[in-house]
Amino acid sequence: MKNIGVIGCGNIAETYFRAQNYFNNINFIACADINNEVAKKCADEYKIKFQTVDEILVNPDIDIILNITIPQAHFEVSKKILEAGKHVYCEKPLSANYEQGKELISLSKKNNLYLGNAPDTFLGGGAQLSRDIIDNNEIGNILTGNFIFAFPGAEDFHPNPESWYREGSGPVLDMGPYFFTAMINLLGPAKNIRSRGFRFFDKREYKAGPKKGNFFDVENNTSYMFDLEFENRSMIQGFISFDVQNHKRNHIELYGSSGSIIVPDPNMFGGPVITSKELGSEWINHSVEDKPLGKTNIINHSGRSNEEPKQSNYRGIGLSEMIYSIENKREHRCNGELALHVLDIIESAMISSKTKQEVNLRSTCTRPRSFDDQEIKKLLKN
Ligand SMILES: NC(=O)c1ccc[n+]([C@@H]2O[C@H](COP(=O)([O-])OP(=O)(O)OC[C@H]3O[C@@H](n4cnc5c(N)ncnc54)[C@H](O)[C@@H]3O)[C@@H](O)[C@H]2O)c1
Repeated sequence: MKNIGVIGCGNIAETYFRAQNYFNNINFIACADINNEVAKKCADEYKIKFQTVDEILVNPDIDIILNITIPQAHFEVSKKILEAGKHVYCEKPLSANYEQGKELISLSKKNNLYLGNAPDTFLGGGAQLSRDIIDNNEIGNILTGNFIFAFPGAEDFHPNPESWYREGSGPVLDMGPYFFTAMINLLGPAKNIRSRGFRFFDKREYKAGPKKGNFFDVENNTSYMFDLEFENRSMIQGFISFDVQNHKRNHIELYGSSGSIIVPDPNMFGGPVITSKELGSEWINHSVEDKPLGKTNIINHSGRSNEEPKQSNYRGIGLSEMIYSIENKREHRCNGELALHVLDIIESAMISSKTKQEVNLRSTCTRPRSFDDQEIKKLLKN
């Protein structure tokens, strides 16, 4: 069990506080935010201590700080946490650019501190069963495949969607981490990327909240198409878009030399995983409802157009696994090298779309170890 402080008390905070009910080693004791009022409210709600950002950084009772500020602040806040001598676990992305991400990794190594990063969804039942099927050679070597994240944009449900349409944000930085991390878990590190980016509109309309009916400016590309080659020679095509009203494609399909697999939503933890061995043959559903991090635990719809009504959401397992790794002096799965490689893919996609050239990735990473039910059960509350 480790004492944890939180910096950033916005939307996602609730999900992390809920993780204390699932995992046996997470103990939040204080929270802070650049906006003290928001942090005070959060402290009241969860019966923990309110502190300013400066105070929480020097709180001697805190071993780890969870950084769930906005992406543009991840670097600055994680750097302060590491300089204060505390381990950090940060939401995705690692930082807004690759060089900053590299600096965080050097700092964590220099200070002998753990740097963990979301997403942790690849530790879920759906992703791990997909991995078992591939690693057990049930569908042969993965040759090709595709993935899609496409919806009408954050303005559909969010009252303040502007930040998704500014430089340093956008669809790939926001949703790419789930897909690229899922793919690295299944296929290992990537090698190069070709990408095209599109901005179809200069202005978009608020669809929710008090500004509904008004328009805001769009600064960045809102749709991207990619070809991503992996070191194992798999070639995967991707599409991430905020310009699609609706679609019926699968999140991820991978085509192996002796069968195909449909991998479930990498933004969530559940299943099913679906496979088929040959043309015209039946598609077989593999449920993950009996897996500790696959079972459906959310039955109220979030209201988001990109989410299924019933979900498995065990966010926080990455933090719990990092705590266990600190205590047992071993490498954690949601580690900095993995997050930096994902950030490299994201930034290289954007560079490639500008230069219209294939971009070789600067980084690599070790494929995270598979996560079996025995290990997971050590972290779960009874
Ligand atoms: N909301 C979601 O469903 C969701 C899901 C997955 C991941 N995430 C990730 O979680 C992170 C937070 O998302 P959110 O939706 O909670 O955002 P949010 O805007 O609701 O909350 C962020 C909070 O961080 C605070 N903050 C900003 N800069 C700060 C700084 N320099 N120092 C201290 N506090 C600062 C803000 O005041 C705000 O209260 C993002 O990185 C996002 O990518 C969010």
